[in-house]
Amino acid sequence: MSKDYSKYLKPDLNKARKRTKEKVEKILYQINEEALNIGLGKTYNVVTFGCQGNEADSEVISGILENMGYNKNEDLASSDVIVVNTCAIRENAENKFWGTIGSFKALKQKNPDLIIAICGCMAQEEKVINNILAKYPQIDIVFGTHNIHLLPDYILEHINSSKKVINVFSNEGCIVENLPHVRVSNKKAWVNIMFGCDEFCTYCIVPYTRGRERSRDPEDIINEVKQLVADGYLEVTLLGQNVNAYGKDFKEKDYTFADLLIDLDKTGITRIRYTTSHPRDLDQRTIEAMTLPSVMPHLHLPVQSGNNEVLKRMNRKYTREEYLDKIRRLKELNPGISLTTDIIVGFPGETEEQFLDTLSLVDEVGYEGAFTFIFSPRTGTPAATYEDLVSMEEKHNRLDRLHDKINQGYLDGNLRFVGKVVKVLVDGYSKNDPNMLNGYSEHNKLVNFKGDASKIGQIVNVMITEAKTWFLMGEEVE
Ligand code: 5AD
Ligand code: SF4
Repeated sequence: MSKDYSKYLKPDLNKARKRTKEKVEKILYQINEEALNIGLGKTYNVVTFGCQGNEADSEVISGILENMGYNKNEDLASSDVIVVNTCAIRENAENKFWGTIGSFKALKQKNPDLIIAICGCMAQEEKVINNILAKYPQIDIVFGTHNIHLLPDYILEHINSSKKVINVFSNEGCIVENLPHVRVSNKKAWVNIMFGCDEFCTYCIVPYTRGRERSRDPEDIINEVKQLVADGYLEVTLLGQNVNAYGKDFKEKDYTFADLLIDLDKTGITRIRYTTSHPRDLDQRTIEAMTLPSVMPHLHLPVQSGNNEVLKRMNRKYTREEYLDKIRRLKELNPGISLTTDIIVGFPGETEEQFLDTLSLVDEVGYEGAFTFIFSPRTGTPAATYEDLVSMEEKHNRLDRLHDKINQGYLDGNLRFVGKVVKVLVDGYSKNDPNMLNGYSEHNKLVNFKGDASKIGQIVNVMITEAKTWFLMGEEVE
């Protein structure tokens, strides 16, 4: 029997801030039998905003909907169910969502039976729920990041009662195993290894929207990767907000992220990538594990700022010197490793001198790519209340200067491969030129090349002939 979801359960950021030491419960996904086949003859579409974590969640949402009998529909307008998976990391991500959802009003007018559901990080914010209740009658279902597995129950309740269902948990949630996936690729797979974040960087909303850090059992991850290998997958990207904290929450065993890399290397998977790392938790054993044959020579290591005072106010818990020391050890053990990062400019109170420290750190590390952001205050986080005297014009000016340096890094990072042969996992035809194939090299460089289309989905050797800022050009060789 289904539960009664007629009473709204709204999120609360204050509750979401709390951390308990209780053991994390593990449950097995099992679909509510009443919801089986409810979607037969009907279609769905999932719209995804934000990070790889959301992309992975959307693959699970698709899996659950297909369990219910729904078929994927590439055309949004004629779908029977639309799920929008939202991102709250910065204001512009939220604005994109409000624009999208506004445009769904017309779809609902055309098809009153259309079911629109919202989930993801924005669903974890009380202000968002209140706005939806006040202004967006077209939304039927809201669920959060901790209860994706209950989607069949919510759809059932909505169909049976025609009422809005709002069910968002503020506490940390459990770990759900046995979830179905409809993976976008049949060669590259996202694999969640942990959920949540306990870092509480002062600018970041994620610890509130994704809850406490909790790691999946190594056996469950290893079995998932073994199954992927058996299904012909060549690459996995291990996902977590802070993968270097993997295993810290285990009470009965001492097992870390490095142990996981060592065990996954033995599964026969060809390529392992992971994201995102936290510099403080990146330990020597992990740096050493980067030399394993399957672990790819690319590391995304968000630094956020090159100035110690700013890092302290961000609560990053490392200094510029400690960060640079880890970079030195990474390069020493893995010559040629490609390093990328995240940087925030215009953190409240950031002075010109402090910003120049970020620029000089970029030079010292020699990043080959970066995601760069202007600080965006998130309601409920400490930094949203910090005094911010830097003008928006100045922030844009800093971002422009940072971009110039980062773009040079992209180009230098590509130039070093000209005349060399690299291994490329072929994704498909290039979007810009259908006569060319493309894919990513071991160092995570996008390569466009002339080659044999029957090799799509395989790893091929490509001789690099030319480097552009954003990609490499080449020709397939034996
Ligand atoms: N403002 C700007 N950038 C942010 N990030 C996280 N929170 C904020 C914010 N409030 C950036 C960080 C992080 C990346 C995922 O997003 O650089 O590493
Ligand atoms: Fe946000 Fe910091 Fe956690 Fe990353 S480590 S998700 S930036 S709080």
